[in-house]
Amino acid sequence: MPARNIRPYSLFPVLYSLLSRSLFCTASHPTPRRLRDTVCMSTLTYQGHEVLYTRQQIAERVAEMGAQITHDLNGEKLVMIGVLKGAAPFLSDLARAIDADATFDFVAVSSYGKGQRSSGAVKMIKDLDQPIEGKNVLVVEDILDTGLTLAYLRKLFMQQHPKTLRIATLLDKPSRRIEKIEADYVGFSIPNLFVIGYGMDYAERYRNLPDICLMGPNEPA
Ligand code: IMP
Ligand code: MG
Repeated sequence: MPARNIRPYSLFPVLYSLLSRSLFCTASHPTPRRLRDTVCMSTLTYQGHEVLYTRQQIAERVAEMGAQITHDLNGEKLVMIGVLKGAAPFLSDLARAIDADATFDFVAVSSYGKGQRSSGAVKMIKDLDQPIEGKNVLVVEDILDTGLTLAYLRKLFMQQHPKTLRIATLLDKPSRRIEKIEADYVGFSIPNLFVIGYGMDYAERYRNLPDICLMGPNEPA
């Protein structure tokens, strides 16, 4: 049909459908549906949880990150510092994707309570085993959220005068940032959602899910 024959009211059903879809999405499934539009989610589930990134997508992205880090190291040595517990699976996979002379260290901090909300305060529970002065340091984190944890750690580590200090995070939630901090290497940037799996927990559960999944809105606190 030629364009001049389209009557304005013939577009009403299309507009109505778009409007009602967006209203429905917001009202009944706030995060998953909006997220599906944003990041082209599949409809996969694992143990009843909606999958945000499959193990295959994670592996591919981690391999790319490892190649980039290897390139940037330019043949120099590396100390990888994992932030326990969430970053353990990521560090383990990332380390094997980095072609360099690397050692591991781990710190543990607490910033979250038992549920989804941060207490706001960061506390060191386990410090570094080895000094990092003059070393190339890569801090490995599962999620950069408010930035409180990494800002606290960066400040602490910089006091030891490493040669370089870079940050690799698997996930980044830029919309949640309180502290001014960015990672040098980001796996995936996501909207404000609570995720579980591949090291990430809800009240210490779900860390062993092999995929990154969404925390359902009806999960018990
Ligand atoms: P930040 O200090 O707010 O940047 O967050 C630090 C830590 O909070 C992360 O390393 C995670 O351990 C945890 N966290 C933030 N968002 C999530 C999430 O969506 N799922 C699980 N843990 C999260
Ligand atoms: Mg963490």
